[in-house]
Amino acid sequence: MTSPEILKLEGARIFDKVWLYVGHESEFAGPGDYRRRTLAGRPIIFIRGNDGIYRAFHNTCTHRGALICRADAGTAKVFQCFYHAWTFDNKGNLIGVPDEEGYGEAFDKSELGLQQVERFEQYRGLYFVSFNPDVESLADYLGDAKEFIDLVFDQSEEGMKIVPGSNQYSMRANWKLLVENSMDGYHGIPTHQTYWDYIADQGLDMSTDYGVEGRGYSLGNGHCAFEGPAPYGRPIAIWHPLFGEEAKPEIEATMARLVARHGQRRAERMAGTVRNLLIFPNLFINDIMAVTVRQFWPVAADYMTVDAWELAPREESARLLAKRLDSFLTFLGPGGFATPDDVEALESAQMGFAASGVQYSDISRGMKRIPGLTDEVQMRGFWRRWHAMIQERPGSVDWEHQEYLERRRLGAHQHQVEPRTAETAAAV
Ligand code: FES
Ligand SMILES: [Fe+2]
Repeated sequence: MTSPEILKLEGARIFDKVWLYVGHESEFAGPGDYRRRTLAGRPIIFIRGNDGIYRAFHNTCTHRGALICRADAGTAKVFQCFYHAWTFDNKGNLIGVPDEEGYGEAFDKSELGLQQVERFEQYRGLYFVSFNPDVESLADYLGDAKEFIDLVFDQSEEGMKIVPGSNQYSMRANWKLLVENSMDGYHGIPTHQTYWDYIADQGLDMSTDYGVEGRGYSLGNGHCAFEGPAPYGRPIAIWHPLFGEEAKPEIEATMARLVARHGQRRAERMAGTVRNLLIFPNLFINDIMAVTVRQFWPVAADYMTVDAWELAPREESARLLAKRLDSFLTFLGPGGFATPDDVEALESAQMGFAASGVQYSDISRGMKRIPGLTDEVQMRGFWRRWHAMIQERPGSVDWEHQEYLERRRLGAHQHQVEPRTAETAAAV
């Protein structure tokens, strides 16, 4: 948690080797729209060209290396480098060079376009890049995590969209502490007591026993998830008095549509369970009160930056979208009930590691029972992969994933969470 040498190894053996999330297709309304992103310390332009094609370029001038794009977001037909004014179109072609006559005959503009990132693929509109030309396909890399991405993206008829705007914050802690924390159901009640008090003030009883009813999964390749019953139904499709009488028709219509499309059992799972997914190494899709997409980057061994976005069905009414954004900020927003608590916990843990008070993060729990949401399997899956990659032993046995596959083989009663239905939600 404190070693600059380990951080360097993480860069070379993990972040430079795997797929890294760069953005969602819905962030762009039209051609020329772009986002500037920094992935593992490398400046990137994520852009939709005039031809409608999405691309990711190294944000580096092919002349002498200067940053080409110097704004975080916008729409551009061309990018002109501020250093010697070479100009590139939004498909990456070099189209203008001042005093071109000064170059010899061998000078060929068509060879000097912006350099595309080595690999660039998408799944359900989630675009990823990899700096490793030999990386497996994104679909293979995501593997069993695709099932959980689908459970989120199938909730919408017209497709999910990133709501414009994002949260950006940072904390003085090692990035792996936030991976653990995001998957750690054990800390939820004690750390976020203020939130539960606030919930209780609204007359709600938070009596679900997530340790028993929830499930943790190690999905292979370091991807992990947990799932639990939705405490009071979910505004997406299972109505509860909390959401208000006026929201009932829209919520019930959504459920009917999900059932027609996906069948009763899958619709109930989508709507009546909450889930949190880690895409190794640093992307979370948190489908609980709202759908938060959160990514974080190590800057130093004891410092990370965080970006968070909200994902919503394109067809959602303004009323439910407002509720969703309110839930997002109330719990996971940088000034919400949860994030400041977690920042405090992680920064204090970081001080503990720096002081050598502890040598290891002890996550071991959940002995002799099917791993629940408050147990450790979903953190252990991350650490298993992290360890194999740092040691450069990609083929080492992934016991937690083996166990996941075995439980799945044994059948749903061993494996799955019982979702809330309209009746059980109303009863809570
Ligand atoms: S470095 Fe970009 S034009 Fe020279
Ligand atoms: Fe937390």
